[in-house]
Amino acid sequence: MTRKKKPRLLLAIETSCDETSAAVVKQDGILSNIILSQDEIHSPYGGVVPELASRQHIKTIDYVVAESLAQAGVSLKEIDLYAVTQGPGLIGSLLVGLAFAKGLAYYFKKPLLGVDHLEAHIEAPFLENERIEFPVLALLVSGGHTSLYFLEKPLSYRLLGKTRDDAAGECLDKVAKFLQLGYPGGPVIERLARGGDSSRFHFSLPRMKTAGYDFSFSGLKTAALKIIRENGLNASHRLLRDFLASFEETVARALLENVHKALEEFHPASLILCGGVARNTRLRTRFSELGAGYGLPSFVPSPRLCTDNAGMVGALAWKKYLAAPVSTTDLDLDAYPR
Ligand code: KG4
Ligand code: ZN
Repeated sequence: MTRKKKPRLLLAIETSCDETSAAVVKQDGILSNIILSQDEIHSPYGGVVPELASRQHIKTIDYVVAESLAQAGVSLKEIDLYAVTQGPGLIGSLLVGLAFAKGLAYYFKKPLLGVDHLEAHIEAPFLENERIEFPVLALLVSGGHTSLYFLEKPLSYRLLGKTRDDAAGECLDKVAKFLQLGYPGGPVIERLARGGDSSRFHFSLPRMKTAGYDFSFSGLKTAALKIIRENGLNASHRLLRDFLASFEETVARALLENVHKALEEFHPASLILCGGVARNTRLRTRFSELGAGYGLPSFVPSPRLCTDNAGMVGALAWKKYLAAPVSTTDLDLDAYPR
C-alpha cells in the first residue's frame, strides 16, 4: 500500500451462520450490501445444519462478493481495505469467509481487519443514525445469542449479561418446530400471532436465582411445550393464534425485564435493540415504549440490517481502522466459534 493514499473503499465479508453476505462500505456509508440467505436449505431440518451451511458458503461466496462489487460499481483493484467476521459463529462457516478475505487481501496486498459478529450487530443502527448518544445500553437478540451490553463510549463493550441456555430466537425456532409451523420460527410465529389475544395463555416462568443480567429461555420453552401438550395445540387449532401471541409477548417481556433493570443502574443516554429477533414488531414496539417511558431514544435497525449482513461488519471495521490503522494483511487472523 502506498503510504500517502487515504483508504476510501472497504470490502466486508460475513459468513458466521447461514447468510452469505458481502458489502462495499465507505467511511460515511454503504455502497452495497448483498445478503444471500440459506433458509431454504436448512428449512427441512428446522434449524441450521452446520456442515450444509459451510458448504453453501463455499458455493456462493464468489458470486455474493462479485455482486457486491457490481452493485457498488467498483472493481477489486479499487478496494483499499478488507474486513471479515472472525466470530462468534459456526466454525466451518466462519472459516470460509475468513479464507476468502485473506486470499483477496493477500493478493492485493491490502490490510485485513477482523471483526466480532456481536459488536457488528450493535453497529447496525449507526448505519442509519449518525448521532446516537453515548453511553448506550444495547440488547442483542438473535438465533444464537441473547446479550445485554453497556457501551460507555464508542468501541467499548461491557457485557452485562447473556443467556445461560437457549437464545431467544432459538426458543422461538424450537417452539415453531414443535408445532410444525416452519423455519425460521420467529417470523412464522409473528405472522400467525397477528391479531391474537396475548393475555389468553399464562406462562409461569422460573425465576433466575442470582442477581445480575443473565437471561434464560429454556424454562420458557419447557413451559410453552407443556401448554401445547395440555391443550392439544397444533398448526390448525383455533387457539393457536392466541397461544402464539401470548408466547411472543412473554418472550418480549422476559427480554425487557433485564433492560429495565439495567436502565435503573446504568442511566444510558440511548437504547439499541439489534439482531435477527429485533425484526419482531411486538418486541420493537415494547422496546421503544420502555425507552420512551424513561425519556430515552431507542434505535432499532431497519429489518434488513437486523439480519446478519456484511454492511454492519464494514461499518464497525471502519471505526476500528480509524481508531487504530493497520497496514498489513494478518494471515494469522483466526476464527473463534464463541
Ligand atoms: O441474527 P440472525 O439473522 O442470525 C443469527 O445470528 O442467529 O437471527 C436469526 C433469528 C432466528 O431465530 C429467527 O427466528 C429470528 O432471528 N427472527 C425473528 C423474526 N425474524 C427473524 N424472530 C421474531 N420475529 C421475527 N420477525
Ligand atoms: Zn447474527
